[in-house]
Amino acid sequence: MLFARRRGGHVSFAVFARGEGAGHDPRDGKLTADDNRAIRICEPDVDLPAGDGPVARGFTVDTSAGTRELIVVRVAGELKVYENRCPHTGVALNWLPDQFLDVQGELLQCATHGALFDPRDGRCLRGPCVGQSLHAVAAHVEDGVLYLDAQG
Ligand code: FES
Repeated sequence: MLFARRRGGHVSFAVFARGEGAGHDPRDGKLTADDNRAIRICEPDVDLPAGDGPVARGFTVDTSAGTRELIVVRVAGELKVYENRCPHTGVALNWLPDQFLDVQGELLQCATHGALFDPRDGRCLRGPCVGQSLHAVAAHVEDGVLYLDAQG
């Protein structure tokens, strides 16, 4: 069953298994790590239409390991997924929904102290966490849907 919810302007999707399906532990009824294969993040062509520069949006997904806040970026024809957590202090990058890019619309920016990140690889280019990176999340597109990888 697919659940979608909005939280602070972010859309989240999660899939919860019923009964004894793959990845469902019948002993305690909890979902297992295998369920992450079925966790849908977004539909990139709908949620992040290609623009002249990078496009970024935030999504919340519920996994068997807990809720994860993600940033999905379309940049240079590729999709990148990062944890929405600044390496400086661990807070979310944005204060406002889906506001991740700097004023030039080229780099990801942390709203707290202004660190700037390369959207192509998550490296901090300027600010208090230079040399560190956003945590990349493994994901894949299948039939137009971006899914969190099991080990993502
Ligand atoms: S918390 Fe992000 S730059 Fe300080």
